[in-house]
Amino acid sequence: MHIVPQLAAAALLAALLALGPAAQSQDEAPRGDAGNGKQLYLADGCFACHGRIGQGGQYYGPTPVLAQTELPFDAFEQQLREPVDNMPPFAAAVLSDRQAADIYAYLQTLAGRSGVKALPAILSH
Ligand code: HEC
Repeated sequence: MHIVPQLAAAALLAALLALGPAAQSQDEAPRGDAGNGKQLYLADGCFACHGRIGQGGQYYGPTPVLAQTELPFDAFEQQLREPVDNMPPFAAAVLSDRQAADIYAYLQTLAGRSGVKALPAILSH
């Protein structure tokens, strides 16, 4: 009787496969394409308010730094879909989940706050 261990192994494998993606989506951001994210960040106008390198800005009031954002992906996407205040919303029809993940990946490649210190001219405007 070798069939029982095989069935058990198959069931275990199926359970692991079923758990895998769910566990991943809770723990880490989907893997995005930072190169494409850069294009989107510029094309969709994020840069106009948040700065070309995510350094934050003053488009119509203080706009947060996005470089190396510490927001979890879910919170990041929530802000795109339903901004907390003045930011215009980006619905899934204009910016898909996949594209949001690409922008998120791009933001992680930016210099962040330490890089911003080297750019006092930009910050003072
Ligand atoms: C017209 C200006 C404007 C544009 C365009 C804009 N934002 Fe924003 N964003 C804001 C403002 C202002 C806030 C502060 C919160 C609010 O007003 O909703 C903000 C907040 C955020 C936050 C929260 C940051 C934090 O640390 O709390 C994220 C993330 C974000 N924006 C991402 C984006 C992305 C990605 C794009 C492009 C797809 C974008 N924003 C386009 C103005 C803008």
